[in-house]
Amino acid sequence: MNLKDVRKKYLEYFEKQGHKIVPSASLLPENDPTTLFTGSGMQPMVPYLLGQPHPLGKRIADSQKCFRSQDIDEVGDNRHTTFFEMLGNWSLGDYFKKEHIKWMFEFLTKEIGLDPKRLYVTVFRGNEVFGIPRDTESVELWKKVFAESGIDSLDVDFSERDGMQNGRIFYCSEEKNWWSRSGVSEKMPIGEPGGPDSEMFWDFGVELKLHENSQYKNEQCHVNCDCGRFLEIGNNVFMEYLKTEKGFETLPNKNIDFGGGLERITAAQNNTPDIFLIDAFASTRKKLEELSNRSYDSISSDAKAFRVIMDHIRAAVFLIADGITPSNKDQGYFARRLIRRAVRFGQKIGIQETFCSQVGNEVIETYTEHYLNLEKQSKTILEKLDDEEKKFLKTLSKGEREFDKIFSEHGKISGQDAFLLYATYGFPVELTEEMAQEKGQEIDKQIFSQEFSKHQELSRAGSTEKFSGGLADHSIETVKLHTATHMLNQALRMVLGDHVFQRGSNITHQRLRFDFSHSDRLTDEQIKKVESIVNENIQKNLPVHFEILDLEEAKQKGSIGVFDDKYAQLGGKIKVFFIGESFSKEVCGGPHVENTGELGHFSILKEESVGAGVRRIKASLT
Ligand code: ALA
Repeated sequence: MNLKDVRKKYLEYFEKQGHKIVPSASLLPENDPTTLFTGSGMQPMVPYLLGQPHPLGKRIADSQKCFRSQDIDEVGDNRHTTFFEMLGNWSLGDYFKKEHIKWMFEFLTKEIGLDPKRLYVTVFRGNEVFGIPRDTESVELWKKVFAESGIDSLDVDFSERDGMQNGRIFYCSEEKNWWSRSGVSEKMPIGEPGGPDSEMFWDFGVELKLHENSQYKNEQCHVNCDCGRFLEIGNNVFMEYLKTEKGFETLPNKNIDFGGGLERITAAQNNTPDIFLIDAFASTRKKLEELSNRSYDSISSDAKAFRVIMDHIRAAVFLIADGITPSNKDQGYFARRLIRRAVRFGQKIGIQETFCSQVGNEVIETYTEHYLNLEKQSKTILEKLDDEEKKFLKTLSKGEREFDKIFSEHGKISGQDAFLLYATYGFPVELTEEMAQEKGQEIDKQIFSQEFSKHQELSRAGSTEKFSGGLADHSIETVKLHTATHMLNQALRMVLGDHVFQRGSNITHQRLRFDFSHSDRLTDEQIKKVESIVNENIQKNLPVHFEILDLEEAKQKGSIGVFDDKYAQLGGKIKVFFIGESFSKEVCGGPHVENTGELGHFSILKEESVGAGVRRIKASLT
């Protein structure tokens, strides 16, 4: 069966069981500021799982587009993708385990013909600490449906050490068999719904030999093992709990939340352990074979590069179709990362030309029948893929020039230089390594890794800061006001003098508040002057960018700001935001807009004293 056939069979089957079929929601969640992407089918259903009535009733099913940015680095094996479709069905306080397990088994074994002997399931073992019992009810229901197919199924307590123990149904802990958007019970925030779940696995068979490097040992293997023999194809969540201050309380309704990977179910149906061999990837695979003049083979060393490109370009196409433009911020950042990573992997398999839009075009053709917006937007999608690819190629050549410069000045490239090339130009370390090798040198990877992990810690700190302390939120309005704050700081220094320093800043999406060192009240004329300096520079459409500089270099360049600011420091180096070539240079962790033209009109709302020698300005953008 093709992916399309499996999707159609699924939706028709659940429609027959009284479900209303809804179209996939966007990859960008609506009214949900807690997450950047739709990463599971239930996300758009949260209000209904919490008890609000769904306009179409109590039984809903769909095939939902999902994107999981956290899986980017996993892509390359035979089963992980960042983008996928999740088949879903929901009971919103209607049917429960009995009906659901019966239907799910019937769909898998009758509708798409999976051999029940090769299906295995896990269930929740129970947890006394939070008072949730062992799910014996599901076990009895699974036993019944297996028995009706002539299979006697043994239930056992899961133990990695003991392998399969001849079992078909395994009791596992909440690490594996509890589902909420935030993972296991302890991590759930107050107000989050969740519940025990029962996962289903397909067995590709003991005869499977994927690869000489496969971890598959054929001994003590078990369903949760990552060796490649078993593939999780779906998860039945019995969503009946709500995390509250007291622990767990039951939701107003007992809900079913089923999610099954469409690509994975299709792979099981085709009995191919490599999901990149299903039909949905056929035309991108063929295109890549043409472009690289190499053939795709699941066990060759090129397989990873092929898979990364197939997955990443498909994901980027769907993200752009839902309104994302590759950039440095938020969702755009992930689209950028996908495309740039695909380009790098294209080079690894010897592709010599720009190729992202060519591969993107195959994705559009494959999916156009089901996702009508792809066709309508194909021009924009292909242009954005192409633009981003070209921008990256430019970045690469800038990085190469910088490499040559450093090399001719110092006669070598240090681990720190490699990091700087990475942090400033996005220049991949493997490239620096290759280029150094061509000059007969090794770079110190350990130093690079040290700098890199410092940088990661700082960006984590930076993003915690971004979501809590410095900025009230990370909405575009707030980010714009943050850039306006830098401009205001600079304008005040120009009008009042170099004694002006930031003493405090607080930004919401409606206004900025800036405290600075200065003793006298500002005259009306000074206020007008400050406003007009900011507005003139907004109108100049100045680009905003940052550079990572040595402390001394940053001071020499006249950057302002608190030099010991831990959020802006990167191992003795410092992050400085530039507005225009030289209008404002300020030590800061970000985030900022890319161009001052985005800001609109700046006005000062109020000027007042907040103590000796400190004045406060409140201002807004309209
Ligand atoms: N919401 C469940 C999942 O994503 C079905 O696995």
